[in-house]
Amino acid sequence: MCGIFAYLNYLTPKSRHEVLDLLVNGLKRLEYRGYDSTGVAIDSPENKDIVMVKRCGKVKVLEDAINEGFSGKEYDAPVMTHVGIAHTRWATHGIPCETNSHPQRSDEGNSFVVVHNGIVTNYKDVKTFLEKRGYVFESDTDTEVIAKLVYHLWKKHPGYSFRELVEQVIQQLEGAFAIAIKSKHFPGECVASRRGSPLLVGIKTKTRLSTDHIPILYGKDDKSPQTCEKEHRPHGQTRELPVLPRIESASEFMPLEEKEVEYFFASDASAVIEHTNRVIYLEDDDVAAVRDGTLSIHRLKKCQDDPHAREITTLKMEIQQIMKGNYDYFMLKEIFEQPESVVNTMRGRVRFDSNTVVLGGIKEFIPEIKRCRRLMLIGCGTSYHSAVATRQLLEELTELPVMVELASDFLDRNTPIFRDDVCFFISQSGETADSLMALRYCKQRGALIVGITNTVGSSICRESHCGVHINAGPEIGVASTKAYTSQFISLVMFALVMSEDRLSLQQRRLEIIQALSKLPDQIREVLKLDKQVQELAKDLFHHKSLLIMGRGYNFATCLEGALKVKELTYMHSEGIMAGELKHGPLALIDDRMPVLMIVLRDPVYVKCINALQQVTSRKGCPIIVCEEGDEETKSFSSRSLEIPRTVDCLQGILTVIPMQLLSYHIAVLRGCDVDCPRNLAKSVTVE
Ligand code: AGP
Repeated sequence: MCGIFAYLNYLTPKSRHEVLDLLVNGLKRLEYRGYDSTGVAIDSPENKDIVMVKRCGKVKVLEDAINEGFSGKEYDAPVMTHVGIAHTRWATHGIPCETNSHPQRSDEGNSFVVVHNGIVTNYKDVKTFLEKRGYVFESDTDTEVIAKLVYHLWKKHPGYSFRELVEQVIQQLEGAFAIAIKSKHFPGECVASRRGSPLLVGIKTKTRLSTDHIPILYGKDDKSPQTCEKEHRPHGQTRELPVLPRIESASEFMPLEEKEVEYFFASDASAVIEHTNRVIYLEDDDVAAVRDGTLSIHRLKKCQDDPHAREITTLKMEIQQIMKGNYDYFMLKEIFEQPESVVNTMRGRVRFDSNTVVLGGIKEFIPEIKRCRRLMLIGCGTSYHSAVATRQLLEELTELPVMVELASDFLDRNTPIFRDDVCFFISQSGETADSLMALRYCKQRGALIVGITNTVGSSICRESHCGVHINAGPEIGVASTKAYTSQFISLVMFALVMSEDRLSLQQRRLEIIQALSKLPDQIREVLKLDKQVQELAKDLFHHKSLLIMGRGYNFATCLEGALKVKELTYMHSEGIMAGELKHGPLALIDDRMPVLMIVLRDPVYVKCINALQQVTSRKGCPIIVCEEGDEETKSFSSRSLEIPRTVDCLQGILTVIPMQLLSYHIAVLRGCDVDCPRNLAKSVTVE
């Protein structure tokens, strides 16, 4: 998904070269989100104009263009105060090309330039409104309407501050956005806002920050908006384009005033962590403005229970966590981090000495959850698969009906939700639009919302009633790996918490807790299969398709393995429920079709062996994933991978790792971009 990075230095001398390096570096940190073009805007050294560089393709292409284009001495001269904005674009409106890249501008003179994430759904209306007033659009983007509308309002209301202009503009926008705007008419100022797309402000000062909170300044909601002009709507309707109340700075609130300060506006924390660990996560409809080095946060009107201030959060993340280290790809690093990431997920929660589990983030809600009508697990992609993987155990240990839902389908169906439902939203990023929309849908209907996320401060995190942070650490590769195993463990821990007072389940709980303690070492064992998996990848990478079969606790591994193969290698792959084989997929089997089968010694072992026989008797030559030392199962094929034995409900954690490695190696052999697969984004903030 698109990425925003903006940098403002106030009384902190920086040359334009330094600013450009900072912007490009910020974009590199956001590359993992997925994008197809890039751009930056800074002040020109010659005059008061803004200069932009935009390129199609990777940040490296932009960097080369900047190095070629901005080479004079004037770029080395320090500037006391400056604003630069930068962007990685993931095309939604208009093809990836320089004109459609961001920043988008208001006019040929670059009066206002905007970087934007999300989709402005009413951009056609706004565009028509502006075209009727003589504005000529140069791009196919929805973003250009923002730049032009702010320019239009600036011409109409010359007395308005930059922040007031942006407040007027965001009131006209529908859909989702995070924006950062720079203007040559307001040098040294930056205004940013969000609705539906994440945005944070990083703050760096030489000395300790003078406050932990930034007060929110609210507009007066007792005034009815005055109207300024009619906005033309489709089908002949018109709507008033209101001039909204101007927010007066209330004297009892002091915004953040620091003498020498640097501000970073970014789509996520990984872009700012090397500069500062002090950030403010903006909420929907916040307008953050920096003027004369002072940051203030505004909202148009105060609603009941709205806070008086935004808290400055200290990030726990370390810069090393977002560096590749000795690995060629983030994805490989993240696969190999799993022995540690699963420990981090369990740390402080699973007590192996007393065989107890405590989830601090939902502890107070457990009695309410126990009384619920049903549990609903909702997510997309890999996060959804973690729900599939743990459903059976949740049913067993909670004795509640458990529904597993894809967020998009759940919304399409207008699924009935009741006050006594408990809805879990599983999301690595915590920003996935479909999951967030489904969350709001369930919340409106009175359900209890539990967030299972990996990103502190994310929208799902903030909008949930309670939740579990999976603590997998930053996941940069677009393909989710360690987040999956940590989501899996988080849900297993929840099942253990729910069953702690059930006498009949104590033996089962004990067995699972003990198996959890062995998991990190067992994951290390599985990772040793890497070379073997690489050899298998050599057999498979030139094929067009790969079928992955299993059932019971391992069906989720089949779905997740197939998703990994698809997204990384662009090969067709399908996760097949082995029980369904004879209802259709068996027709695909012959001596050329690549098949991988998961056959473990669990309650469905005999059924899996039946499926294996059905495949081999049709000349299929499957690769078998089986338990260590299971010679009988291995005898069905010349190719197998042996994984350590664990309790049935945790097998999926060990069986998914060879799938992650396999997709990785096939992708490398096929020359695919492992960390940023084509057409995909890390954080899907559009529906
Ligand atoms: C995983 O490899 C995928 N890139 C994708 O399916 C992802 O899991 C999905 O988009 C959901 O993302 P989330 O966990 O951030 O909500």
